[in-house]
Amino acid sequence: MVTLLSNKLCMFRRIVGSIALAALTSAVQSQEVRHKDAAVPWWKHAVFYEIYPRSFADSNHDGIGDLNGITSKLGYLHDLGVDAIWISPCYPSPQKDFGYDVSNYESIDPMYGNLTDFDHLEKTAHRDDLRVIMDFVPNHTSDQHPWFIDSRSSTTSVHRDWYIWRNGKVPGQPPNNWISDFGGSAWTLDPKTNQYYYHYFEVAQPDLNWRNPAVKKAMFDVTRFWYQHGVAGFRLDAVDTLFEDPKLRDNPLKDGTNEFGDHEMINKYNDNLPENHQVLKQLRAIADQNDAVLIGETWTDNINQLKEYYGKKNDEIQMPMDFMFTTVNQLSASKFREQIALQESAKEWPVYVISNHDMERSYNRYGDGKHNDQIAKVMAGMYLTLRGTPIMYYGEELGMENNDPKRKEDVKDPLGISGWPENKGRDGERTPMQWASTKNAGFTEATPWLPIPPSYTTHNVQSELSDPQSVLQFYKKLLALRRESPALLDGRYIPLNQNNPSVLTYMRSYQGDKKAEDILVVLNMSGSSQSIQLDQPSDGKHLTQRLSLLTSFPTESTQKYDDAVVMDPYSVYIAKVVR
Ligand code: GLC
Ligand code: CA
Repeated sequence: MVTLLSNKLCMFRRIVGSIALAALTSAVQSQEVRHKDAAVPWWKHAVFYEIYPRSFADSNHDGIGDLNGITSKLGYLHDLGVDAIWISPCYPSPQKDFGYDVSNYESIDPMYGNLTDFDHLEKTAHRDDLRVIMDFVPNHTSDQHPWFIDSRSSTTSVHRDWYIWRNGKVPGQPPNNWISDFGGSAWTLDPKTNQYYYHYFEVAQPDLNWRNPAVKKAMFDVTRFWYQHGVAGFRLDAVDTLFEDPKLRDNPLKDGTNEFGDHEMINKYNDNLPENHQVLKQLRAIADQNDAVLIGETWTDNINQLKEYYGKKNDEIQMPMDFMFTTVNQLSASKFREQIALQESAKEWPVYVISNHDMERSYNRYGDGKHNDQIAKVMAGMYLTLRGTPIMYYGEELGMENNDPKRKEDVKDPLGISGWPENKGRDGERTPMQWASTKNAGFTEATPWLPIPPSYTTHNVQSELSDPQSVLQFYKKLLALRRESPALLDGRYIPLNQNNPSVLTYMRSYQGDKKAEDILVVLNMSGSSQSIQLDQPSDGKHLTQRLSLLTSFPTESTQKYDDAVVMDPYSVYIAKVVR
């Protein structure tokens, strides 16, 4: 199986692209009552929001975000209209990979606070109708984790077999040809015992040995620990790589080298092994006992692989993220239509993401440098109205942009340090949340750990709240609309005008216990005005009479009585079909 994983952390850095948006008039009525429906699992109607804790809000002014900072902003998130936050790792960590190198799974890093602060966050979130999802890093620990410190101490230590230790193929040569996602061999020789340990990621992130029952037990217990602290689920980090071929066979080589100068290969023997699914089933059983959801960092090459992550009996990950969607690297109605159709063909519950802490922000990927705000609204108009659960990335609702390092000496991300200059790393998409137009964007009074892009003076919560045309106001209206709409929450996806290369048009159609509803979504992904003649859906419904609910351009009238839709460049039109 060829997977994207081998270069998953790098691929987005190569994407050059750009594009964007404008004004918004007709508003939707926002209601304070949160949509609750006992028949549907809570996460299907939820909108998730990823928080990178170093960068969200700094309460003690040391330049780094923290848990009390997050707690102080829960009111903002409630008003924005999201339902759950996923906090990227905030456990004790040497921060080699900024928290994805965990040295204690059952505590909070002092830089972020402590467990009491976490419990306070959790309680406040509950008050604000928000659920908390933690990031679970099962593939590897930090090399400073006590398990690994013991493991490396001798070949007979209690934890020796908790990691993957092997002799070299011949003296001086690693056990096989596998390469690390951070460049170089995936094996590092430890002089103490003269054996190699395996690390799919950074040298300081040794892989756990999931074939060892003691590892399984310890890690399953970690999830129980957090459920007891009230968390509503986990985002599972790097779940594709839990297992390795027991014979450690060499991976087949491909032509060429990657950006680290390593030979390209197919990760046949260390990625996506069938054994992964056993572990996922077990994690799921524990999640089910806690009414919890599992979200997967699932890098897949094709829809069948993605489908497998749900489990044959829907007994694995409820929400495997569709990263194939993020490989559409240009604002193209045809390409997105194709990708949505592929996801729909799986007949599962889709999970859409357009940005995260590992990929260049969507604002830059799709923006054209001139209409970025309009384009940000078009992207929102799409991923927040498709069938499925969307996961937002902090700042996406503001039109936050990347701020990539200009000099190697400024790079913090290990990926950028080893990949420079071809791969500048992920610092650019991890900059502090932009709260205000004041100094340091209102994030901190100290020097922020990463530099804030100059655009913060216009793209920040405070300014955008007072601008009815802002990206933020568009998100708020859209999220409110989604919350109240049975069609947007549960309706079928019906593609329309499928041959149009510029405009993505679809209907979400609901017929169920609640009042039937049809919502039309029209997204002009091109830089010119477009007039389209709406297809009649095959079920014979006519779309002629419509009530406009939300647009990203001024409309003269909210009522329409014909089947033509005229769209401004880069624009969104969402309407209810009146029958
Ligand atoms: C996941 C994380 C990424 C991290 C890697 C190693 O891909 O999203 O940030 O570097 O795992 O833990
Ligand atoms: Ca702080």
